[in-house]
Amino acid sequence: MAHVLILYATSEGQTAKISAEIVNNLRELGYGATRKDLETWPGIYDVKDFDAIIIGASVHFHQYPKEIVAWIESNLETLKRKLSGFYSVSMTGAQETEVGRERTDDYLTKLFEKTGWHPKLVASFAGAMRYSELDGVRQRVGQFVSWRTGGETDIAQDNEYTDWRAVRDFSAEFARYLQLSEKTHV
Ligand SMILES: Cc1cc2nc3c(=O)[nH]c(=O)nc-3n(C[C@H](O)[C@H](O)[C@H](O)COP(=O)(O)O)c2cc1C
Repeated sequence: MAHVLILYATSEGQTAKISAEIVNNLRELGYGATRKDLETWPGIYDVKDFDAIIIGASVHFHQYPKEIVAWIESNLETLKRKLSGFYSVSMTGAQETEVGRERTDDYLTKLFEKTGWHPKLVASFAGAMRYSELDGVRQRVGQFVSWRTGGETDIAQDNEYTDWRAVRDFSAEFARYLQLSEKTHV
């Protein structure tokens, strides 16, 4: 049974929540799955112990956390040898317009060009806006990002935009790739 590592970087928690759903989905589909928060995972990055890896990261100020970018760069050779996937979490992912898709594609293209990593499966999920987790400038920026992407601007409530069916579809597709790679390695 293949074992998948889901490594994520989150600020307000939505990327972590999505990683938990992917773990459940993969386990239901008969695979081993373990998730790790890049921030708290101790320095032993033994990716080699896993058969495949999915990385998840959220966008803030038009970019993914520099820690995850650095991690991808320093583990590039291992990543290239394994089946890998990436999911992006953002507010532009919630914007079902040409502009929204272009912005999301732009975040992804920049990441893949910078790191030289080209995961087999890529998805962009709508995130959440948890105003209660934010204060000061970050709350105002979050409100602006929500306004610009058609989200809720009332800071009295937190809002989740993630399409959970899209997350399950991503897990199922990744499982299909796992099955294929198992077949080709017999
Ligand atoms: C301060 C701030 C800046 C953000 N900047 C962007 C951005 O540039 N583009 C975007 O699409 N979403 C942006 N977002 C939305 C986040 O990507 C979204 O809230 C996501 O769910 C965060 O995921 P996390 O909880 O895993 O960190 C921003 C959110 C905050 C709070």
